[in-house]
Parts: sequence; structure tokens; C-alpha cells
Amino acid sequence: MPRTAALPRVALPAALLACCLSCTGGGGAPPAAAGAPGAGDRLFPQAGNGGYDVTHYGLDLSYDPATGRLSGTADVTATATERLGRFNLDLSGLTVGSVAVGGHPAGFSRSGDELTVRPAGPLARGAQFTATVAYAGVPRTLTDPDGSKEGWLRTDDGAVALGEPVGAMAWFPCDNHPSDKAAYDLTMSVPDGLTAVSNGDLAGTTHSGGRTAFHWRTSRPMATYLATVAIGRFTVTRSAPPGGPPQYTAVDPRSDDPGTAASLRRIPEILRWESGLFGPYPFASAGAIVAHLARGQGGYALETQNRPFFPGASDPPAVPLNTLVHELSHQWVGDSVTPRSWQDIWLNEGFATYTEWLWAAHEGGDSVDTSAAAAFDDPASWTFPPASPPTAADLFATPVYRRGALVLYELRRALGDAEFLRLLRAWPAQHAYGNASTADFTAFCAHFTGRDLTPLFHTWLYDAAKPAHL
Ligand code: TRP
Ligand code: ZN
Repeated sequence: MPRTAALPRVALPAALLACCLSCTGGGGAPPAAAGAPGAGDRLFPQAGNGGYDVTHYGLDLSYDPATGRLSGTADVTATATERLGRFNLDLSGLTVGSVAVGGHPAGFSRSGDELTVRPAGPLARGAQFTATVAYAGVPRTLTDPDGSKEGWLRTDDGAVALGEPVGAMAWFPCDNHPSDKAAYDLTMSVPDGLTAVSNGDLAGTTHSGGRTAFHWRTSRPMATYLATVAIGRFTVTRSAPPGGPPQYTAVDPRSDDPGTAASLRRIPEILRWESGLFGPYPFASAGAIVAHLARGQGGYALETQNRPFFPGASDPPAVPLNTLVHELSHQWVGDSVTPRSWQDIWLNEGFATYTEWLWAAHEGGDSVDTSAAAAFDDPASWTFPPASPPTAADLFATPVYRRGALVLYELRRALGDAEFLRLLRAWPAQHAYGNASTADFTAFCAHFTGRDLTPLFHTWLYDAAKPAHL
């Protein structure tokens, strides 16, 4: 989203003129730079790009489940943060037919997962522009450094897009880093009888020529890794629970069993309980997506914004309650407050795991002390400190989840219940709809409590060694 208010829209002829001046060296205009091909993430150096901030993705796409072909256009509206002669978008696979910037044909080239765009003339710093990319092809399934599958995953009657950490680039050109959040409009055309479900709110559907186009609008800023679309035969349930956000759930008919239905019916109650912990639910709508992936194609749930995703292929219930509680908690910690960089991922997973501990105790299961002791005793919790996953393959490793949750457990012991619970509510408010780093969190805690928490964070968050005891 824009960091600055009202920015000038630069007309292209002026930009062209500026180019000529800089080329002849007489104008004093600085040379037009190339936007960096990465956002500077230690774990994913190629992810994201430099030189601009995206404010809106307008995706107008069509999918054919029979051939697996996706086609359409992406309008990427952004603000140049430096004077730009060229800039990159991230795109993995697919064929680009044309690129335009501000409606004028632009040059482009591909190299690996980088799409380099050369506008007809440089973009001034502060200029708002729209890059229109026309593309098509059979999108790829990506394999992450940890071996898990993401990107575009086919199902027997459609497909699902999952984007954590870098899968978004398999289905649309983007600034593929959590630090650049934006609003979205996605229109997905599918054969009649199929449903396309995505993030945000259903703004409308249109029918023509045996196809239905679903228009989904996400007005709150969303990181690319949280964008999803699921295409297939779904049982759709819409409801307006009293006092909660309207709900849209899409469930593969094969997972439409009593156990799954019982879990999903508890979404309003879980959101109410989590609002008590984290403050008001941050989005205008809620729900869930349950789809059957092909075998070996990812057995993990994902906190896709508004509407978390659950794989339906495992034994029923497809949506275990603790997993549902985990993914719904991410709507506050992860989706509204998004990690600044990938090494800050414990701010998502540590909080969501701690929420699971609280839920278990709330439901009469294990006490929080029991959950914390189990996490402490697990040798897998201690292979690295949660604040610094050593490699991209460690993003979803045990220390991020369980030792991350122990950080909060220890913080509660240090602060006492009342102050800790006030802090837990204040944190999502502090960075609502934005980004936050580990340093932002520790600074916030120190400021909020007026205490020196350096030793606590050293021991539980940063130190490689396992403490002697809880
Ligand atoms: N972020 C997901 C969660 O809610 C988990 C996840 C996403 C994941 N991608 C993954 C787990 C890859 C393992 C491997 O916890
Ligand atoms: Zn999680």
C-alpha cells in the first residue's frame, strides 16, 4: 500500500523527454536506475524487487481445468520509489505475450523467475504507474527448499494456488515479498458448474458463453504469499453470524462430512474467542476453503487471507479444530500484521502455536504449562533460535513454532497475566494492516511495559543454547 499520500501521476511524454535529457547529459536529470531484482531478504534474495511499491493487483484471469491452462492479464499498479529506467516483477513459468506501462507498449525480458520491464521512458520517483502484463500457460507447481509444494497445485476438477513463501509468482507477476502488501481485484473465469473462491469479498459473478466469472475483491492490504484462488466443484455455504463477519466457506463435496462441518460451524465462536485475545477481527469477511489436492501435493493448511485453506485429502475431519484455531489466529498475526522479512516468521508461527496452547486449555485439554513443557522437552525445538532461521529450508521448522511459542510463554511469566494479555491485544493494533520485524516486536514490548526485557529475549529468542530449565 502507498507509504505516501497523493502522488503525482506522471504523463509518459514528460518521462520520455526526461530520458532524452539524461541521455545527452545536459538536463541534470539523474540517470534512470534499474530497480533491484530482489527485496533484500536474507533467506530469499530473489524474492520481491526494488524501486517501487505495489498498491493494487488487478488480475483478470481465465482457467481451463481440462488443459490446465491459465490466461489473462495482470494490472500491477505501483508507485516508483526511485527514478526507474526498468524494474522487475517476479514470475515463474508461463508465457508473457505483452507488457505495457501506462498503456504504452513496454519492452520486457525473462531470466529465471525475473520479468524485467523497460517502460518506453523512465518513471519519475513518486510516479504512480500501472504495468499491464498479458500472459498464459500451464502454471507450475513449485518445490520449496524444505521440499514442500506450493504455487499452482492441480486437483482432479480444478486447481488451488498456495503462495507461502514464494508460490504467488507461479500464477501472477508480482512484487513477491511480504513487505509489499497491496489491495487486489481478482476476476477468475471458469466453466459453468465450477466455483472460483479467493480472498476478500465476492463482488459479483457474471455468466457468458458457458463460463462463470467470479470477482473477488480484497481491499485490505495483503501479502502475495496470502493470495489464493481455488477452482473446482465446491459446496458453498454463506452465512451472516450475529456479531461476526459474514462467512463464505467452500468445501470439496468429498470432505463435506459431519466432522468437517462441525469444525467449520465453530468459526464464529473461535473468531470471537480470538478477538478477546488479539482485538477486533481485522477483516470484513471470513470463511474457509477445503480442497482435495492430488497425492503428494502438500498436506498443510495455510492462512490465506480471510479464508484459510485446508487440504481435504487426509482422514476426516479435514479441518481439525486446533488447526482451524491456528489458521484463524494468523488473520491477526501474519495477515494483518505481516512479517517484514522471512526471518521474522516466528512472529506468525510462534503466536499461532501459543494460541493453540491457549485453546487446548480453554477446551479442557492440556494446560498451557503442559504444552510449554512438551515444547521445551522436544529436542527439535532447539536446533536454532527462532529469530534467525539459518536457511530457507528452516522456515517452518520446529523452533519457529514451538520455541517461538515459548517466547510468549516466558513473556507472560515475566509480565503476569494482566499486563501480558494487554500486550497481546496491543501488538496487532500497533501494526494493523502493515509489517513488523522481530526488532519491532522487542522494541514494542520494552516500550509497552517499561521493562528491560533484553535478558528474556536473549535467552528465549536469540541464544543458540537451550536454557537449563523452563
Ligand atoms: N504457514 C502454515 C501454517 O499455518 C504452514 C506452512 C506453509 C508450511 N507452508 C509450509 C508448513 C510448508 C510446512 C511446509 O503453519
Ligand atoms: Zn501457522
